[in-house]
Amino acid sequence: MTHTPGSPAEEQFSGELTSGEHLSYWLASAMPVAYKTLDSDLQTDVLVIGGGIAGLTTAYRLASQGRSVVLVEDGMIGSGESGRTTGHITHALDDRYYHIKKLLGEENARLAAASHTLAIDWIEKIVDEEDIDCEFKRVDGYLFLHPSDKAESLQDEYQLTHDIGLNTKWLSSVPDILDDANACIHFPNQAQFHIMKYLRGLAASFIKKGGQIYTRSKAEDIDKNGAKVNGYTVKANHIVVATNSPVNNRVTIHTKQHAYRTYVIAAAVPKGSVPFSLWWDTGNVKSEWTAEPYHYVRMTSYNEDYDLLIAGGEDHKTGQADKEHISEEERYFRLIAWTSKRFPQMKHVVYRWSGQVLEPVDAMAFIGKNPGDDNVYIITGDSGNGMTHGTLGGLVVSDIITGEPNPYIDLYDPARKTVKAASDFISEAKNMTAQYTDWLKSRHVDAAKDLANGQGGVVGTGTKKLAVYRDESGQLHTCSAVCTHLGCIVHWNADEKTFDCPCHGSRFTKYGDVINGPALEPLKKLDEPKDD
Ligand SMILES: Cc1cc2nc3c(=O)[nH]c(=O)nc-3n(C[C@H](O)[C@H](O)[C@H](O)COP(=O)(O)OP(=O)(O)OC[C@H]3O[C@@H](n4cnc5c(N)ncnc54)[C@H](O)[C@@H]3O)c2cc1C
Ligand code: FES
Repeated sequence: MTHTPGSPAEEQFSGELTSGEHLSYWLASAMPVAYKTLDSDLQTDVLVIGGGIAGLTTAYRLASQGRSVVLVEDGMIGSGESGRTTGHITHALDDRYYHIKKLLGEENARLAAASHTLAIDWIEKIVDEEDIDCEFKRVDGYLFLHPSDKAESLQDEYQLTHDIGLNTKWLSSVPDILDDANACIHFPNQAQFHIMKYLRGLAASFIKKGGQIYTRSKAEDIDKNGAKVNGYTVKANHIVVATNSPVNNRVTIHTKQHAYRTYVIAAAVPKGSVPFSLWWDTGNVKSEWTAEPYHYVRMTSYNEDYDLLIAGGEDHKTGQADKEHISEEERYFRLIAWTSKRFPQMKHVVYRWSGQVLEPVDAMAFIGKNPGDDNVYIITGDSGNGMTHGTLGGLVVSDIITGEPNPYIDLYDPARKTVKAASDFISEAKNMTAQYTDWLKSRHVDAAKDLANGQGGVVGTGTKKLAVYRDESGQLHTCSAVCTHLGCIVHWNADEKTFDCPCHGSRFTKYGDVINGPALEPLKKLDEPKDD
């Protein structure tokens, strides 16, 4: 059994609710969080663009400090990647501390650990102070070896977590999971929540502190004076771009981070049969991809009879699922196989969805002043730790704006040099360059007539490539397949029914409208092609 979208609320808000065909459990189980749409010019001290965890945390923090803050969101609150997360709140960073030490030194690894610990504690404090009913819970986390990885990786990680002051333990087996791995690192006192309930509570608290939120309100022409929002002028002294992929920055940051798709299933397990914990494997070191895909698992309450076991993984670079000859659909089957082997309590799959993560080349998010700007800020490059990175983003950026000292400003500075990550930078750059050969070489579907109703594809050869979608009534919708960011050819994502760009992760709806930046413009609409 899988969840089929279609409740009245979902239909009413359709595409503005989320960035793909599937609804996550969080979105399906919480009503959309909508506010008024912006319909006049405005002036404010701080304009925050983006209503995910990063934007809302920044807005809330600054409003708490007495600042006048306006937040604009082009969909609904949580309609970006925050609504598609799995909501592990942890300082067990997926880039591994021993890797961070190699790139940035032990002191920076220590700072990174302290900053994520602070973010967990901050979320707990706000949940408590604002009385946010979001199922926040402290849980244990367990990191165990992926079969492709060397035992020393786990030992190195354990040693380093100790050296930098984390209270980890070495266990000789992985609790509550059937796995061949015979040891794991125990991270006590991690956390989890229901992200949409958290965001709803944070938004309400922000409004109580005098903040303003506008949903269905898209920001464009962002500069040091503010932005155009739905065509109206919003002037601000400070502009925070918390759009996940920064839409104000055309190139610099997008060569330092890379977009990956990641897949999730939520399966029913008999209530109480699996304890609430977090589990992660160390990732497939033999993978095709520079950012090695790993599995991540957590629990949540579902109904009187069942809990949900939520497992994720099977990542690939955006727009490049085919490179491993594993379709998007097949990735869910692999995830189900991996999970059911380790959690035999698992019954039927109730939800499935995918989402996008941005992997920075040197393992640190980019939080702070946009390079070259004094009053425009970005929060991006979360990797799989966006709950804590997004929270930290809010804390660091608000401290920069108010002039408060913050020990993490340099570590996350978007203008920092990433030279020590040269090998990852080069391998990602090679991958990106290879995508441009798609222009001439590849043809994804022979002709539009090959497309069934409800399917899309890229048709044509040479310099004429079309992104074609055949709707449920059989009508064709045609755009140029050339990405409006820097000209790569988009790929059809048959799972979320979107056109995804393999170069910097821009995504477009089946009709060509922008879902994720860095692209700002829709795919160029063209006349209908003939079936052949
Ligand atoms: C499947 C999956 C599982 C994950 N699991 C975890 C996990 O367990 N733990 C963890 O820590 N992290 C996890 N992450 C990462 C984490 O969810 C994200 O990094 C985080 O939610 C990003 O938050 P954000 O606020 O930066 O971006 P978003 O939530 O994407 O918010 C950005 C918002 O900006 C809006 N926007 C964009 N352009 C404009 C514009 N021009 N004008 C107005 N608004 C605009 C978008 O609509 C969007 O709502 C996961 C991610 C995925 C996809
Ligand atoms: S996202 Fe950069 S070319 Fe498409």
